[in-house]
Amino acid sequence: MAAQFPVYIFLIFALSAIRVNCDVHDSCREFSTELFNATVFTQNKLNVAVSPYSIWSAMFSVALAANSTTAKEVYKGLRLPEESDKTLIRKYKNLNDQVLEMDADNVSIMSKHYMFLDNDFQMNPLFDAITTFGVGMESKTLCFNDTKTAARHANEFISNSGFKSQLMLKEYFFRETRTFMYSQVTFKEHWKFSFDYFDTTTEPFHDENGNIINEVFMMRQRNRFAFSHIKEMDAFVLELPYGPDGKYCMLIVLPSPGNFIKEVIVKLAKLSLVNILDRMNDDIQNYGLEIIEVRIPRFVIETYMKSSLDDTLMKMGMLEIFNSVSADFSRLTDESIFVSTVHHYTTIHVNESSTAASSETAVLFVDTSNKGLYPSGTTSVVPVRKRPIYYPAFVANRPFIYLVVEKSTKSIMYGGVYGERTVFK
Ligand SMILES: *[C@@H]1O[C@H](CO)[C@@H](O)[C@H](O)[C@H]1NC(C)=O
Ligand SMILES: *[C@@H]1O[C@H](CO)[C@@H](O)[C@H](O)[C@H]1NC(C)=O
Ligand SMILES: *[C@@H]1O[C@H](CO)[C@@H](O)[C@H](O)[C@H]1NC(C)=O
Ligand SMILES: *[C@@H]1O[C@H](CO)[C@@H](O)[C@H](O)[C@H]1NC(C)=O
Ligand SMILES: *[C@@H]1O[C@H](CO)[C@@H](O)[C@H](O)[C@H]1NC(C)=O
Repeated sequence: MAAQFPVYIFLIFALSAIRVNCDVHDSCREFSTELFNATVFTQNKLNVAVSPYSIWSAMFSVALAANSTTAKEVYKGLRLPEESDKTLIRKYKNLNDQVLEMDADNVSIMSKHYMFLDNDFQMNPLFDAITTFGVGMESKTLCFNDTKTAARHANEFISNSGFKSQLMLKEYFFRETRTFMYSQVTFKEHWKFSFDYFDTTTEPFHDENGNIINEVFMMRQRNRFAFSHIKEMDAFVLELPYGPDGKYCMLIVLPSPGNFIKEVIVKLAKLSLVNILDRMNDDIQNYGLEIIEVRIPRFVIETYMKSSLDDTLMKMGMLEIFNSVSADFSRLTDESIFVSTVHHYTTIHVNESSTAASSETAVLFVDTSNKGLYPSGTTSVVPVRKRPIYYPAFVANRPFIYLVVEKSTKSIMYGGVYGERTVFK
């Protein structure tokens, strides 16, 4: 018996080594981590909010529309395993069911996909069937010529199905566009342990160099939370669970004093969420849940990305979809079309009792006669290192990363960076 032991160990290692990219859960997470990393760099702002899960989910329909090398790039960009569409769609649905499954009455999480078509645009019936049944996409034909009426009708169509577009469906979406895909994900959850409104006080907030930049409304509570110092990132991670069972949680990643957000993000992308959550679990097993004093600011962040998201998707290998010459969307239509731009809007609202977040993603397709719509490159600024500051407990009074995570699939629903006061009352 004893002799078999090393063999088992070897097998376990060998199996976990090949278990790379074999699952759609992993695809979504890998894409999300990389997109999150790239977004923070391209946005180059103090406050950022993005929904990697909803972008991945929207791009999945783009993958189903593409053909030949265009399709290859999108599948690869989404980190999808090489399997038949039938299998991928089944796994995609499975992931969505798991991510969107609500755990209690108070929880509200919804995802919806739409497709709007100009009235003379011919959609391939097979694509229509696949997206209707596979993705749950609803399509609607409108007269795009009259952009004002088209926008009104599209917004009515969405609100009739229980959603509300906060920002996106504007008139210019219909100008020059042949068809567009539009997705929404909304999330509203109560903290498992809410902060007492009366404990909130104003406190100074610092920049990454330790200088006071302004005052924020700091929520506070003392409770048992999962909390780890992750050496590889040189950062502290705190888990704030939502709902009664903590199926969803917010992870707050606070760089160690003297360390910088961008350095932590790069390491976070390398380390992966799976390892971080595993480490936190190990710490709970070894040390139990510690009572800690938590202080984080109340905040509201919204980010609207236009061409910057195109840049990110291109960096992730999806080039042909944006190319008027080589884009191949023959599974969607016989017309020659390409993606002019991908818009994304995310808003997140965090306070004493709950988190409310919503995201919208729109993929605009234009006729190949519209050329010269290529987005430009971006730059990033690396901050200068200064003297570190030290804080006991978990006091988020300097820039931090937040991630809203569905724990069973370890999907990043929403995420971003907080670095500057966003609420004044
Ligand atoms: C839309 O505009 C084009 C060009 O202006 C015109 O040829 C076409 O008939 C119009 N279609 C509708 C439905 O109004
Ligand atoms: C639902 O929310 C209310 C109000 O915040 C809270 O009192 C209640 O405990 C929550 N119920 C569950 C099951 O989380
Ligand atoms: C994260 O973004 C930075 C800056 O664009 C890049 O250098 C790095 O390779 C990215 N890391 C990952 C894992 O994608
Ligand atoms: C996809 O491309 C292949 C080869 O390029 C072609 O044979 C096939 O008809 C295309 N599929 C559709 C649905 O047009
Ligand atoms: C917290 O935000 C939610 C909406 O996200 C709102 O309904 C609730 O009243 C807010 N609570 C407090 C204490 O401000």
